[in-house]
Amino acid sequence: MEGFPLPVNEIKIQSSRRKYSVFFVEDHFEKLKQIYTEGDVFIIDENIANLYPDLYRFIKPFKHIFVTANDAAKNFSELDRYINFLIKKDFSKKNRLIAIGGGVTQDITAFIASILFRGVDWLFFPTTLLAQCDSCIGSKSSVNFGRFKNQLGTYYPPVNIFIDIAFLKTLSSVELNSGLGEMLHYFLVNGEEDLAFAEKHTAAMLDYDALILTQFISRSLKIKKKIIEKDEFESGPRLIFNYGHSFGHAIEAATNYQIPHGIAVAVGMDLANLLSVELDFLPLTLRNRIQKTLFKVYREFSFPNIDFDLFVSALRKDKKNIGSKVRVILTMGIGEMFVATLPDSKEIDNLIQNFFLDVVYRKQL
Ligand SMILES: NC(=O)c1ccc[n+]([C@@H]2O[C@H](COP(=O)([O-])OP(=O)(O)OC[C@H]3O[C@@H](n4cnc5c(N)ncnc54)[C@H](O)[C@@H]3O)[C@@H](O)[C@H]2O)c1
Ligand SMILES: [Zn+2]
Repeated sequence: MEGFPLPVNEIKIQSSRRKYSVFFVEDHFEKLKQIYTEGDVFIIDENIANLYPDLYRFIKPFKHIFVTANDAAKNFSELDRYINFLIKKDFSKKNRLIAIGGGVTQDITAFIASILFRGVDWLFFPTTLLAQCDSCIGSKSSVNFGRFKNQLGTYYPPVNIFIDIAFLKTLSSVELNSGLGEMLHYFLVNGEEDLAFAEKHTAAMLDYDALILTQFISRSLKIKKKIIEKDEFESGPRLIFNYGHSFGHAIEAATNYQIPHGIAVAVGMDLANLLSVELDFLPLTLRNRIQKTLFKVYREFSFPNIDFDLFVSALRKDKKNIGSKVRVILTMGIGEMFVATLPDSKEIDNLIQNFFLDVVYRKQL
């Protein structure tokens, strides 16, 4: 196989709290049976319980909590219910939580694990591409507070992560594309070789080619590993991984979270590239080349209208801003991202508004 080397079975991560590993497993059910210890409590996405009846049959006799994977479920006010269950069922500090699901299930489990009895162990079987390629490592947990998204959080890694790509067979194409958007952001920040690999193999990846899928996931995780081990708490180098994210988050907020994260990030990267061309940092030919791959992420998605005023007000609230200056990540090329202040001008506003119209009507160059 040409391209990236075959992925290893284990990726070790060093975090300030502990060392932990990501294992690529061939059979999540076998692995689950192997690791289950009496007293463990499962926190499982209810869609996974329905889609994988054998898995649920195994879990059913043991203590378990269902999660409906949406924003309401990861609201601070909902945690009361989960924590009540754990305490009433005599969950103790030596017991573990086992999360099975995507980022929502992860955030709920990690947040509870970090605060319950000042910290209990948790294990994670990520079932979405986004969770497998990105969120499962990096230690972050976030929950919503009222209508404010991801405003409460902790850094609290799991003990181990078990990735079975077979879960992805039941994932919708929208969720698969969202994971692709997130992986492309790692590849573009990392360098030319990664973009070239993505250009060549994205179609096979979306077609569930197991080897290619595993390579995409392990490559993203290894790029993320490098950066989180250097800057776990996002004080410096981790900032450039916000490429596509300041714009992406503002697009998500402006559309009331109707656009999945990785799809909004792909659009955000394209916008960052367009602005980088406008401000003379990036050659237009390179922007057009990258756009061909980014377009694959969102070409099938039907976008709602992206309200420019809501977008700007969300962008102004970004945690990276200093004072009234809007700080974003722009680029001088593949692997050459940098922090910049966005100029406040009518030309830039018009450019962004026209860009949104092109995205909504899925117009490619
Ligand atoms: N903590 C972090 O570092 C971090 C990073 C990125 C995103 N997040 C959070 O993660 C959430 C998004 O997570 P996500 O995109 O992984 O998905 P998700 O957990 O929101 O799930 C998306 C949908 O896919 C379904 N699903 C999950 N696995 C499936 C499977 N194998 N087959 C079929 N359907 C399946 C879910 O039931 C749900 O309907 C957001 O709340 C975001 O804030 C957290
Ligand atoms: Zn992201």
